[in-house]
Amino acid sequence: MPVITEIEDLKRLHKRRTPKMFYDYAESGSWTEHTFRENCSDFDDIRLRQRIAVDMTGRSTAGQMVGQDVAMPVALAPVGLTGMQRADGEIKAARAAEKFGVPFTLSTMSICSIEDVAAHTEKPFWFQVYTLKDDDFMRRLFARAKDAICSALVITVDLQILGQRHKDLKNGLSAPPKFTLASMANLATKIPWGLEMLQTRRRFFGNIVGHAKGVSDPTSLASWTAEAFDHALDWDRIREFRSWWDGPVILKGILDEEDAKMAANVGADAIIVSNHGGRQLDGALSSIRMLPRIMDAVGDKIEVHLDGGIRSGQDVLKALALGAKGTYIGRAFVYGLGAMGEAGVTRALEIIHKELDITMALCGERDVADLGRHNLLLPTDFETRWT
Ligand code: GLV
Repeated sequence: MPVITEIEDLKRLHKRRTPKMFYDYAESGSWTEHTFRENCSDFDDIRLRQRIAVDMTGRSTAGQMVGQDVAMPVALAPVGLTGMQRADGEIKAARAAEKFGVPFTLSTMSICSIEDVAAHTEKPFWFQVYTLKDDDFMRRLFARAKDAICSALVITVDLQILGQRHKDLKNGLSAPPKFTLASMANLATKIPWGLEMLQTRRRFFGNIVGHAKGVSDPTSLASWTAEAFDHALDWDRIREFRSWWDGPVILKGILDEEDAKMAANVGADAIIVSNHGGRQLDGALSSIRMLPRIMDAVGDKIEVHLDGGIRSGQDVLKALALGAKGTYIGRAFVYGLGAMGEAGVTRALEIIHKELDITMALCGERDVADLGRHNLLLPTDFETRWT
């Protein structure tokens, strides 16, 4: 077993242990994957100010996201098909998150259902919904999340139509997988993954199959999104969804100042600055580069979170220093899950936590709440390079 000290180690193991179709699903962006790559590389454009001889005892990474206590401001992002990366993947990730004290967000496109995750966890988790045409199905999803005592609802607003991801199309992605000769040959090298999968009954989209009507092939992500997603979504509809949920609502997929202002007006509790991990509009700017503009536009009106490109505690610190109140890891926890199951998700959280804590200390800070622009050195055109 290799020594695991960074998220990249988990990624290598994930790739080795998981069928190509699912590794590729996690690891892809849309079209040229330019935005997917820049989500990470733009973090390198931000440098940290080293400070010395500052008392760094009694440090704390604890904070709050939408009023809920978190051990560090890093939630697990909603990721579709997590239960295909590893059998019962959503349950494993949710358990790791609750033990660590950070929110787990269950995707509507999960393999384990809301009820399954609720039955195998102690603390409330968050639930993510897409904006779908079928009102009846939407209302039932909200009601199921309420019955499961989910403590926040994340509404994804940047996926009315699915961005094209070449790898998924070439691999014929579905859940459960439809095997071709090539994928069978690949599976032959992933026997432990297959044996674990044979022991679970959770191999379909647990929130959808048997619940959504009029979907010709509910095993296919592409057909479900094409048939069920609301191409006519507007702000009134988002406001309506907001009114269906009593607790905190987080709008995920805001990347523009004007949209951020609209989001603040519909009564959302928080927004996630996000380009869907570079999986939707390839060519859009990275989340971290858009964050300062969005903070300037709405930072005093609504809580701002960020996802996209976070692979280390240093990345978390940079996002917090630019004003985000919370961050999300998606791929970083999925690598851990594919590599080592629940223990791998815990490892991913430990790695990020340790990096955040040490980076904070070396920047001369003791509390994540005190992080700010004073900790950063930015190129003079960081915000204005693309206008
Ligand atoms: C689903 O939201 C995806 O990005 O695949």
